[in-house]
Amino acid sequence: MTLIHIENASKYYTMGEETIKALDDVSLDIDHGEFVAIMGPSGSGKSTLMNIIGCLDIVDKGNYDLDGQAINVLKDSGLAEIRNRKIGFVFQSFNLLPRLSAYENVELPLIYRGMSKKERELLVIHALESVDLLDRRKHFPSELSGGQQQRVAIARVLAGDPAIILADEPTGALDSKTGLEILNILKRLNAQGRTIILITHDLLIAQQAKRIVRFRDGRLYKDF
Ligand SMILES: Nc1ncnc2c1ncn2[C@@H]1O[C@H](COP(=O)(O)OP(=O)(O)O)[C@@H](O)[C@H]1O
Ligand SMILES: [Mg+2]
Repeated sequence: MTLIHIENASKYYTMGEETIKALDDVSLDIDHGEFVAIMGPSGSGKSTLMNIIGCLDIVDKGNYDLDGQAINVLKDSGLAEIRNRKIGFVFQSFNLLPRLSAYENVELPLIYRGMSKKERELLVIHALESVDLLDRRKHFPSELSGGQQQRVAIARVLAGDPAIILADEPTGALDSKTGLEILNILKRLNAQGRTIILITHDLLIAQQAKRIVRFRDGRLYKDF
C-alpha cells in the first residue's frame, strides 16, 4: 500500500541570478513497511527531499501525497499537524535536551500531546525497552555514549508512534561499529512493520536497507 507518492517534484532555490534545482523532476513511491535508503553525495538534494517528505517544506512543482493526503495544498498549520502526527525525525546530532534524563527526553513530546502521566509511562517504558535502554532511564545525555544517545532519540520517536521514521545521517556522528548497532535497531523496527527512510552518503550504511534510491544533482538516477 502506497504511503509516499511523489510525482514530478521539483524544488528550486534562487541565489542572485542563479537558480539551483535542488530537486529536479523527481518521482518516487514508497509503500507502508519499506526500509529505503536515500543515497547521494553532498549537495545532491537528499536533505531537500527529506524536508519535503517530512512536511517541513513543500515542492515548487509536482505533487506529494502522504497516506492519501495531498500535502502541497496545506498551510503551515496543516503541515505542522501532519508532521507531529506522522513523522519521527532522527538526526545526526541526536538533539536530546541535556538537562532532561533519558526517560524525560522520551516523555516530553507526549506531554505536549496532552497525555496523562499514566498513559505516558506505558509508552515511555515500552519505547526505552525497544532500544534496550530501560536500565539507563535515569541517565542524562552527558552520561550516555553516542550510540546510547541515538537510541534515546529513536525511543523518543517510537513513543510518538509515527507512520514514518525519517533518519538523516543517523550514524554520521558514530564510529562504524556503533553505527551498525543503530542500523540493527532500525532493521528490527522495520521487521516489526515500521516504515523507515534512511538518508546517507555512505554506501555501506545504505546497503543495510532493503532498497536504495540514488540521487545526483537533484535527480533520482537509480532505484533498486
Ligand atoms: N536554503 C537554501 N538556499 C539555497 N540553496 C540551497 C538551500 N538548501 C539547499 N540548497 C542547495 O540545493 C542543493 C541540494 O542541497 P541539499 O538538499 O542540502 O543536499 P544534500 O542534503 O544531498 O547535501 C545544493 O546545491 C544546495 O547548495
Ligand atoms: Mg544533507
